[in-house]
Formats: sequence, C-alpha cells, structure tokens
Amino acid sequence: MSNIFTSSIGKKLMMSLAGLFLLAFLLLHLAINITLILYKDTETFNRAATFMGTNPVIKVMEVILFGGFLLHMVYGAVLQVGNLMARPKGYKKANYSQTSFFSKYMLHTALIITIFLVLHLFDFWVKNKFLGSVHEITYADGETYHNLGALVLERFKIGWVVVVYVVLLLGLGFHLHHGFQSAFQTLGINHKSYTPVIKTLGVLYSVVVTTGYISIPVYIYFFK
Ligand code: HEM
Repeated sequence: MSNIFTSSIGKKLMMSLAGLFLLAFLLLHLAINITLILYKDTETFNRAATFMGTNPVIKVMEVILFGGFLLHMVYGAVLQVGNLMARPKGYKKANYSQTSFFSKYMLHTALIITIFLVLHLFDFWVKNKFLGSVHEITYADGETYHNLGALVLERFKIGWVVVVYVVLLLGLGFHLHHGFQSAFQTLGINHKSYTPVIKTLGVLYSVVVTTGYISIPVYIYFFK
C-alpha cells in the first residue's frame, strides 16, 4: 500500500520537512559558532555550547536532529536511485534542460556534505562527547565549562584544516541554494507571486549561511 513513507511524493515530503528542520538547525548552530569571532574570548561560546550539550530539551532535539539528517539522506538516496532506474534505456540528458545548474548537482553536493559531517563530527563532537579530549575551564562566577572553544581555535590554526573546511562548505552552499526553494515547492508553496520571493530568500539564506560558516575558520586562522 502506498503511503506517506513509501510513495514517491510521500518520500519527497518527508525529505523536505527534514530539510527545513536542518535549515533551522544551521541558523542556530551558526549563531552560536559565530560568537567565536564576534567576541574577543571564547567564554560566550563555551557557555552557549555547554547549554546546548547539557539542556535536556536540547538533548532530545539532538536525537531528532540526527534522525532528520538520516531521514533526509536516506530518502534523498532512495529517490535518486528510483529516478535513475525509471530513466528509459539509452536516455541522454537533454542539453536544453530547464533544471538549474544548482539542482543538477544536488547528489554530488550531498556527498560533499556527508564527507564534511563525518570529518566535522569526529573533529569536535566525538572528541568532546566520547574521547574526553576537551579540557575544563572555570570562569569568574566559579562555573566550570568544557573549553570547546579552545579545541575549535586549535583546529582552525592548521592551514589544511581551514582549506578543507572552506572547500566542503562551498558544497554546502550550493546544496542550500537549490534545497531551500525546492523544499517549499515540494510542500506545494508554488505560486507566481510567492515563488520569486522564496527563490530570493533561498539565495539570501545560502549566501549568508555559507559566508558565515566560512568566515569562522578563515577569521580564526588569520586573526585569532
Ligand atoms: C565552520 C563552522 C563550524 C564550527 C566552528 C562548528 C563547531 C561545532 C562544534 C564545536 C561542535 C561540537 C558540539 C558539542 O560537542 O557539544 C559541533 C557539532 C555539530 N556540528 Fe558543527 N560547526 C561548524 C559548522 C557546521 C556545519 C556547516 C554543519 C552542518 C552541515 C555542522 C553540523 C554539526 C552537527 C550535526 C553537530 C553535532 C550536534 C551538535 O552538537 O549540535 N556544523 N559543531
């Protein structure tokens, strides 16, 4: 029986909802991480990161976040394989295709983001949560926090780490550029007066988020 989890439109819908959730996460994650370059020291970042890592509500959100990533990836892969199999034999992509440059490379940029996430989670999250590589720091109010900020500064003082981050984050930017408007389209928000607004917001979102993330390793490398 065809339902929301198995029908083609159901899978696209689930993928879009998970995608929108991830778009919101990226804004929140950026807002916390950008404090590393907005403030002279890492105290604000460490306090915010510790709150995110210990608050029970956020801990539940973290499980939903990882579920959202998995759901988005699995449905994306299943839909892509389905599309390839449905393509008639000997089919060649038409050069006059109307699809935009960004939409053609969604699978490639998704792979880049997956590589980024594996490296990134190992670099910070695994080291902090499972390897005990993060030292503690006590502030003037006597409160002790995990000094995650020091770990981030240490990593982004290494040139090749910064280059890898910048290159992979550009892949994220390309993915977001098309993903943003595509998610709204799948949800049926497609109208000649709203669609141009959504497209502009998508460009704005992807440029601001990508530039914001890239500025963190680059600024730390050169100025911290
Ligand atoms: C380049 C700027 C970034 C910095 C400085 C940064 C920093 C961090 C840090 C320090 C952690 C560990 C948090 C903890 O253990 O409590 C973390 C976790 C994480 N990061 Fe990033 N991140 C960046 C970009 C990104 C991007 C672009 C994505 C998504 C594509 C991402 C996805 C995640 C996820 C899913 C986690 C694990 C969940 C969490 O702890 O919030 N990060 N990041």
